[in-house]
Amino acid sequence: MIPFGRLGPIFKRFAGAMYPRETRSLLKEIIRSLEPGGLVLDLGAGTGILSDIAREERHDLRYVALDPAMGMLKNAPQHIGKVLGKAEDLPFRRNSFGAVLIGDAIHHVNDPEWAIIEVKRVLRKNGTFFIFDIDPDAFLGRAVCIAERLLRERAGFYPPEKLGDLLRKDGFSVDVLKHDWRYSITAKLID
Ligand SMILES: C[S@@+](CC[C@H](N)C(=O)[O-])C[C@H]1O[C@@H](n2cnc3c(N)ncnc32)[C@H](O)[C@@H]1O
Repeated sequence: MIPFGRLGPIFKRFAGAMYPRETRSLLKEIIRSLEPGGLVLDLGAGTGILSDIAREERHDLRYVALDPAMGMLKNAPQHIGKVLGKAEDLPFRRNSFGAVLIGDAIHHVNDPEWAIIEVKRVLRKNGTFFIFDIDPDAFLGRAVCIAERLLRERAGFYPPEKLGDLLRKDGFSVDVLKHDWRYSITAKLID
C-alpha cells in the first residue's frame, strides 16, 4: 500500500506537476461558471492541489477537501475545509455542492461505482463532476498502473471510455479530454 499518510510534504511539493495546462484551464472554466459563494468538494484531495488551482480563478467559493489520510490533509492550505473520509461514504447532505473534483485519486477508491452514486447525491442539479486520472490503455499509464500494483495498491484504473459509460448510466453527460497518458472528464448532472 502507498503510505499516503506519510507522503503529505512530498505531494505538496511535487503533485502539481501531474496536472497539464489543458486540465488547469478546463477546471478553471468549470469553476468560473459556478454561482457566487457556492461549495466545491475536492475528493481524494491529498494536499488540496485541485482546490488551489480552482481558487486561483474564484476566491469567493468555499472549498472542502476530503481524504482518508490526515497526513495529506494537514498539508493543505488553511483556507480549505478539511474532512477525513472516503469517497464511497460522503458525510454531506444531498444537493450541497456546485462542483465535485477528483484528481489522480479515483483509481485508489475501493468502489468507484458507489462513489459516483454518492457524488450524484451531494451534487446540485446541473452540477459538475470533474475527474482527472491516468489512462491504463496508454503506454506510460500502463507503467504507472504496474508500478502501483507492485506497491500493492488497489490501482483500479479505468480507461476514460469505461468511466464515461458508468457516469452516463448514472445520469451525467460526459466530455472526455485526453492528454497523452492522462485524461480529464467533465461530467454534468442532467437528471
Ligand atoms: C495520488 S493521491 C492524489 C492526491 C491529490 N488529489 C493530488 O492530486 O495531489 C491519491 C489520494 O487518494 C486518497 N484516497 C485513497 N482512498 C480513497 C478513498 N476511498 N476515497 C477518497 N480518497 C482516497 C489518498 O489518501 C490520497 O491522498
